[in-house]
Amino acid sequence: MAVIRSVIRGVGAYLPKRILTNADMAKIVDTDDAWITERTGIKARHIAADDEKTSDLGIAAARQALIRSGIDPVEIDLVICATATPDRTFPATAVRIQSELGVTKGAAFDIQAVCSGFVFAMATADNFLKTGQFKRALVIGAETFSRILDWSDRTTCVLFGDGAGAVVLEAQPQKGAREDRGILATTLRSDGRYGDLLYVDGGPGSTKTVGHLRMNGREVFRHAVQKISGVIEETLVTTGYAADEIDLYVPHQANARILDGIARKLGVGPEKIMITLSHHGNTSAASIPLALNQAYEEHRLKEGSLVLMEAMGGGFTWGAVLARW
Ligand code: ACO
Repeated sequence: MAVIRSVIRGVGAYLPKRILTNADMAKIVDTDDAWITERTGIKARHIAADDEKTSDLGIAAARQALIRSGIDPVEIDLVICATATPDRTFPATAVRIQSELGVTKGAAFDIQAVCSGFVFAMATADNFLKTGQFKRALVIGAETFSRILDWSDRTTCVLFGDGAGAVVLEAQPQKGAREDRGILATTLRSDGRYGDLLYVDGGPGSTKTVGHLRMNGREVFRHAVQKISGVIEETLVTTGYAADEIDLYVPHQANARILDGIARKLGVGPEKIMITLSHHGNTSAASIPLALNQAYEEHRLKEGSLVLMEAMGGGFTWGAVLARW
């Protein structure tokens, strides 16, 4: 039976020019390259310039994705930006991206699911496209986490960085068969009982300040492997694929040890997992499209490749997207 699917037409990314290596971090807090590398796999992070906003990062990534898609911005009728670090409390970062790109049709809004933001945004766009409400969506993950870090807290400031990535999705008729291209399944979960394990200690509705990121790293680690593996398995069961049938896993880039743990649990070899965090750290909602972009540039994605994207973040929120390239 013919169905409408959200086909990925283009991908793009942007990283700010300024780089802080682990050696640079050791000048800011009491840490060293060996500790950061061994515990996380991170070697460097990019930091936005003072005059660079989250939307600027998102615009650069979106421009590249649009060019690669061959779709004119006037054809886009949905812009979703996943971010926990918006330019302003309102309006949404997505509307500035929309206007700067010359998109005038349809709707633009932000999604806030922290590190799972891109997965939540893809699922949202997919549901709008499948129902026919919109035809072509720009889905962006953009963050300036450097602005919400406590730069005196070595347990968190070494982990995160700034960046953006974007994809262009287009609603296309497919056969409703196994070889269909586009998003095949999405699985989203949240559990607010874990809200105090990873959070920002401020906000307009509570402290009237922006606040800083706080995290119980050990607890987050424990939940991450279990929850992410669970949501991947659920997505595979829904679609009838086995873990080793996936051509490339493109996970949220938080920590190499978390990714190793998930790979072991699923029985998947390291060659099938896209790991890019060593050069940009955890960029929250931007990390999956940054990794997807690198996979594209390294020719690891061919038409027909099965790609599984997954993430967990503050909330907790977690989820997965299975798509055929
Ligand atoms: N440099 C040097 N020493 C450090 C640093 C640092 N940057 N940070 C902490 N330490 C010290 C601690 O003070 C502690 O010292 P102590 O034993 O004298 O008290 C010691 O290292 C061990 O600290 P732990 O917190 O127990 O270290 P752990 O092995 O758990 O590693 C880490 C910490 C890397 C944060 C780990 O818990 C982790 O990866 N958690 C997952 C967090 C994560 O990835 N969050 C991202 C957001 S959620 C997501 O995206 C999935």
